[in-house]
Amino acid sequence: MCGIVGYTGSKEAAPILMEGLETLAYRGYDSAGVAVWDGEKIEMKKEKGQLANLKSILEREPVHGTSGIGHTRWATHGEPSYINSHPHGDTKKQLVLVHNGIIENYLKLKNMLVEKGCVFVSDTDTEVVAQLIGDLYRGDPLTAISDAMRLLEGSFALAILFRDDPYRIYCVCKDSPMVVGYGRDGAHIASDIPAMLAYTRDVTFMGDKQIAVLSPEGIAFYNEFAAPIDKGSTHIDWDLDAAKKGSYEHFMMKEICEEPVAFRKTAEQYVNFRRGCLKADCFPWADSDAEDVKRIRIIGCGTAYHAGLLGKKYFSELARIPVEADIASEFRYADYEFEPGEILFIISQSGETADSIAAMRMAKQAGVRTIAVCNVIGSTIAREADDVLFTYAGPEIAVAATKSYLTQAAVLFLAALRLGEIRGRVAPDRVSAFLTELAEIPARMQKLIDEREAIQFFSSREFSAKHVFFIGRGIDNALSMEAALKLKEVSYIHSEAYAAGELKHGTIALIEEGTLVVGLITQKHLAAKTASNLEEVRVRGAKVLAVTNGEMPDIADHCQKVWTIPETGELLAPFCAIIPMQLFAYYMAVQKGCSVDKPRNLAKSVTVE
Ligand code: M6R
Repeated sequence: MCGIVGYTGSKEAAPILMEGLETLAYRGYDSAGVAVWDGEKIEMKKEKGQLANLKSILEREPVHGTSGIGHTRWATHGEPSYINSHPHGDTKKQLVLVHNGIIENYLKLKNMLVEKGCVFVSDTDTEVVAQLIGDLYRGDPLTAISDAMRLLEGSFALAILFRDDPYRIYCVCKDSPMVVGYGRDGAHIASDIPAMLAYTRDVTFMGDKQIAVLSPEGIAFYNEFAAPIDKGSTHIDWDLDAAKKGSYEHFMMKEICEEPVAFRKTAEQYVNFRRGCLKADCFPWADSDAEDVKRIRIIGCGTAYHAGLLGKKYFSELARIPVEADIASEFRYADYEFEPGEILFIISQSGETADSIAAMRMAKQAGVRTIAVCNVIGSTIAREADDVLFTYAGPEIAVAATKSYLTQAAVLFLAALRLGEIRGRVAPDRVSAFLTELAEIPARMQKLIDEREAIQFFSSREFSAKHVFFIGRGIDNALSMEAALKLKEVSYIHSEAYAAGELKHGTIALIEEGTLVVGLITQKHLAAKTASNLEEVRVRGAKVLAVTNGEMPDIADHCQKVWTIPETGELLAPFCAIIPMQLFAYYMAVQKGCSVDKPRNLAKSVTVE
């Protein structure tokens, strides 16, 4: 969602702010703005649309100064427009600020402030915050921020520039992420780590209701009552180039191509391949407490939820435990009563998804043990969960999740395998067999990536499809859901996932001459069943593409096209089968000329409800 940057130091602020905003553009935005102290006044420039628009304004009318804040806005309250773009200020022109989050009681506050004489110019909830802090300001920024914080309901990450104290940037957060760091030339704020990497790798994650005051000399931290606190920093060892596109046309393609390495790196954290065993101390279960796990619930949003669906299969098959997977935004309001011995798994690439955080906190409040599967060290979910199983995907910039899905599924598989191993549900030789095959998966993935031209060719013929159905059974049904999401989010083609056996109960009515149906058949024991379902749609005019696990000669009769993944054990097959599906979505989107890395209306990190 919105991106925030800030800088104060010895260099010109505007280029640093713009570079940071470019790096955060992947989060999704529809307008952008900066405010810089020019030595006499706070100079503000903002514009609707792409960052390029703001950039050309700054080229025509440059702003000079060494402290400033910047913002990319993803509209929530008020349409995307110049007026609603951040920064926003107060009527007395004492301060300007940028905001990420949603102020839930903004109308009540706005009415109160209007009565006090504040004149509002935008439709945003953010302007209410600027006016509120302005109203409370009596010459001490910290006190005004701390007082305002007590009146604000909802979520916020704020970066504030005060006219009376222009070389300091004040920032404060509640339920919305923000990192700060001190580099060679000054202090920086950003909504996300990639925008910091060029300046420092030692970053501090802001906690809830904490205030940071950045100055050219350093960063000081305060609690919600404006009392000084100490905070440590976290070293980030992500490769700087990992957050750059390099020679690839799109981040999505780069990230698909990184999957074999991301998979291997993640697996190596949990598996000792040399010895052929799982690294027992990397999992959150001791032999003694594994039997205490009575039930597992997995939550996540979007792709992370889909990885959770694979996790559900893994835990029930390998650990023989009752498992449910839920969408976090539903689960948080489900009035669910946890059972003794139940564990909540939270799956999240960013670790900042609002609904997943809320579901996690609900479980924690109920005394339930929480285990996160997360990609970002220091993120809210990684900090607050009782245990974290990290994925090692590196930064994922494209809005469409690819390598994060794969690594989340890998971690869930390994966690289930470990639990099954210590509960005695998976025999030692079966564990070794899994690990032996797991080591071969990156090479199989690489083969699929190397042979992607066939998928590109197929897409070049099919990209005008209006509807695509993905069908499969069991694990293939879970995989179909992710394949359908990927296609719709990047190519805007309507796509649906359906349990293959469920089609005849209604949805088959939608099949007409030329409808594209993709049948996923990685589960050999279900192949004949899915083949019958493919035949049912084929005879009704559908164009059928099947994705098979190794050669399956019997399938060819039921479809026009077959893509084959290298033959792989059924539980591990999704790691290979997802790759052609991601490539298919990518090429369809490219053919249609879509904005592949930043699809319309979407944000990378959904930090509001
Ligand atoms: O950061 P998270 O994994 O919590 O994000 C969850 C979803 O917003 C995310 O997976 C989304 O569905 C992706 N854009 C899909 O590609």
